[in-house]
Amino acid sequence: MRLAHRAAAAVALALALPAPAAALDDGLARTPPMGWNPWNRFGCEADQRLVREVADAIVATGMRDAGYRQVNLDDCWMARARGPAGELRADPERFAAGIPELAAYLHARGLRLGLYTSLGSETCEGRPALAGHERADLRRMASWGMDYLKVDFCGANAGVRADPEPAYARVSELLRETGRPIVLSMCSWGVGRPWSWGPAIGHLWRVTGDIADDWDSVMRVAARARSRWAAAGPGGWNDPDMLQVGNGGMTAREDRAHFSLWAVMAAPLLAGNDPRRMTAATRRTLLNREVLAVDQDPEGAQGRRVRARNGLEVWLKPLRGSGGAVLLLNRSPARATLGVDLRRLGFPAATRYRVRNLWRHRTGRRGPILRKSVPAHGAALYRVRPLP
Ligand code: GLA
Repeated sequence: MRLAHRAAAAVALALALPAPAAALDDGLARTPPMGWNPWNRFGCEADQRLVREVADAIVATGMRDAGYRQVNLDDCWMARARGPAGELRADPERFAAGIPELAAYLHARGLRLGLYTSLGSETCEGRPALAGHERADLRRMASWGMDYLKVDFCGANAGVRADPEPAYARVSELLRETGRPIVLSMCSWGVGRPWSWGPAIGHLWRVTGDIADDWDSVMRVAARARSRWAAAGPGGWNDPDMLQVGNGGMTAREDRAHFSLWAVMAAPLLAGNDPRRMTAATRRTLLNREVLAVDQDPEGAQGRRVRARNGLEVWLKPLRGSGGAVLLLNRSPARATLGVDLRRLGFPAATRYRVRNLWRHRTGRRGPILRKSVPAHGAALYRVRPLP
């Protein structure tokens, strides 16, 4: 597969690094947030015991040291009803020890606590949410030691649904008022074009509805994140939703392709599996430090798809320095050979390149033609640097 001239021109621009989006400059989320969230695997069943055990597993497996620091709660952590003074409370059965205790447990292990709420008066699961209690709820959660907040879109009234920006801006403002540094994750499912105002208000914004644990869903949400590349940069990220790696709906190969794509898109990496019970393949995927380094590259450029034909795709993510990550993705139902001429990807002209295969952990020096047979629903990911 050779790159057409027009595509090559677009790529040259991509490698020249886009002007950074006007993101918040509060020191938070300078690289895409990483951590874990129970929703994809456990839904409303998460409780304090699970979360503590997962936190222990995140430390024991090396996930924390690889960068997965956020341990987030999702819907259903709060009690079904507010307290007598209207105060937000944790679910008395599943989180009996309370959120401050959980925060202390996480902080003692070098992890960070994430909480969840919604813009309406109820969450998607009918639990109490922000509307009418914004300042009090946000203060209370901040005082418990919250480091990250996901704000969902359920229950939003018609005005907010028509234009979510002011509501999220108010949350951002009130979080700032608490004086505690808190990452703001805005979950309007792409409603209101959050990529256009998100960078000025929060640190990540969902671009789609929910991801499911299957290949088609993963490809669908990736396509929605893809076109928003220009909005991403240090401090603000497109969020194609939490990872499904290790949840069993996809093969290990599909999981690796999913993970490679998230890394190339500089997506937040919130594992959605059960870290207490990981197969060797899941571990190798989530803990692949070389792939994580692509996601976490300090330049913060979201990679772009530069070639697509018959389900065969080439993606490029510029990395700090003169290098880039090149992803060969085979979405077709059959094995295929993908090839690309590196000179046409906008790398500085060179006759030799250093090419590191990030899944096989092998480095080669080679000429400008990169060619690889990739199985169906598979991905090959490389870090490429021109040699002097
Ligand atoms: C919405 C969000 C999901 C999850 C659920 C919880 O669907 O998009 O990520 O938080 O609500 O109810």
